[in-house]
Amino acid sequence: MKWRNGSLRRRLVIWLLIPLLVISSLMLLEVRSNAVRSTNQAFDRALLSSALAIADRVVMIGGKIEVDVPYVALEMLTSAAEDRVFYQVSTGQGEFITGYEDLPPVPDRLLPLREEPVFYDAVYNGEPVRIGALSRYVASVRKATRFQVLVAETMGTRTSLSEDILASAAARQIVLIMLAAIIVWFGIGQGLKPLTRLEEALNRRSPTDLRPILHDVPTEVRHLVGAINQLFGRLENSLKTMQRFTADAAHQLRTPLAALRTQAELGQREDDPEKMRQIMETIASSTRQTSHLANQLLASARAAPEGLAGRPFEKIDLCAITRAVTSAKVPAAIENGIDLGYEGLTEPVLIMGDATLIEELLKNLVHNALIYCPDGSAVTVRLENDRKPGFVRLSVEDNGPGIPIEHHKDVFKRFYRMSESGQEEGCGLGLSIVKEIAARHDTKVKLTQPERNSGCVFSISFKRSS
Ligand SMILES: Nc1ncnc2c1ncn2[C@@H]1O[C@H](COP(=O)(O)OP(=O)(O)OP(=O)(O)O)[C@@H](O)[C@H]1O
Ligand SMILES: [Mg+2]
Repeated sequence: MKWRNGSLRRRLVIWLLIPLLVISSLMLLEVRSNAVRSTNQAFDRALLSSALAIADRVVMIGGKIEVDVPYVALEMLTSAAEDRVFYQVSTGQGEFITGYEDLPPVPDRLLPLREEPVFYDAVYNGEPVRIGALSRYVASVRKATRFQVLVAETMGTRTSLSEDILASAAARQIVLIMLAAIIVWFGIGQGLKPLTRLEEALNRRSPTDLRPILHDVPTEVRHLVGAINQLFGRLENSLKTMQRFTADAAHQLRTPLAALRTQAELGQREDDPEKMRQIMETIASSTRQTSHLANQLLASARAAPEGLAGRPFEKIDLCAITRAVTSAKVPAAIENGIDLGYEGLTEPVLIMGDATLIEELLKNLVHNALIYCPDGSAVTVRLENDRKPGFVRLSVEDNGPGIPIEHHKDVFKRFYRMSESGQEEGCGLGLSIVKEIAARHDTKVKLTQPERNSGCVFSISFKRSS
């Protein structure tokens, strides 16, 4: 967790350093094997010259091989103080002639020895040595016979030379890695500067300034800024909804509350029980109206885009919701003398949406039908397959007075009421709530006239979710 939260700069430097260290270790391994190979090549040549010089001095005297070792040849090799040189001359069959008898013999994999010299590593007297070996013929008048020369040299100079090469390569790598780390450290600081400027600009903003961020930012953070801008947009909508709610609440509730107060004050001064009862009735009805208004204001705030109760959509069963809301409204319908019924699909109908908002939408449509239709009217809630494949249509139809065509647009506006709707309870928010909830579900409310009767049909088409 600490690692995730830590500094970006430190994380990047570490991410750079670890692979760099691994790569340079591999490179150093390669340098080391190259250094050993090159020093061997150079020193083996000197070893060969000594072996050749010795071979030149091998003669056959009276059928016997004899050698007059040229010490100068060996001195060529021992120029480095710490190295020692050993030699051995033997017959082709391996019989010792002169030199150091116990020198490590030529390994089997390099046998048989011919004119071509061979070189191998071995240990002599507990010390690592490099040995060069070659074979030649020596001839007398009567016969020619093979002999072999081994020249061994301790590895001190070779080792220290290849170690020097390795050390200087390692030093170069370390300097390079340190420079890279420093450059990245400061480079990231430079790269992050636009973010610092962005931070300063955001710090200077007022809390209500939710305009999109238009600063130039590096490509890598452009998506982040885009997401922040989208959030700003949603926040601004929420803020507007809240401001609208507060302004509406203050404005709309003021009058009924003042009326309530007047009635209550009147009641305080009234002694006549009959007048008192009338005042109490008025108070009860004003309270109902005010609480309905408060409920509708809240519902409207919830229905608004990015509304106060903005919840992510989920799969919901539109059929179950429709039938449940219709059943719940039956007692109210009976009370108003209206025949309320459900028709249409009975199986689950899945859509993506917010169940509470859909319930609110349906309640408003049914409520309107119940209060604006006279006794004896019929109201039908219907859920059926739409003509458009993959869509379902939810509708509420009544055979009441209907809405004249010239009002069709206006009835969806906030606080718009038709003058002839004498109902005391209404506050003109119901259909605007329905419209906003439909918009939240990417659809529209349609208001039409029924084919045969008077009355009106409100219908909304929803996309099915599989
Ligand atoms: N089914 C209907 N039949 C006849 N007129 C209707 C019907 N539905 C709505 N109206 C008319 O449309 C107007 C607006 O309706 P809306 O639901 O928006 O407001 P409201 O019912 O007056 O108040 P609220 O629903 O906020 O309590 C109503 O005043 C009413 O005149
Ligand atoms: Mg209404």
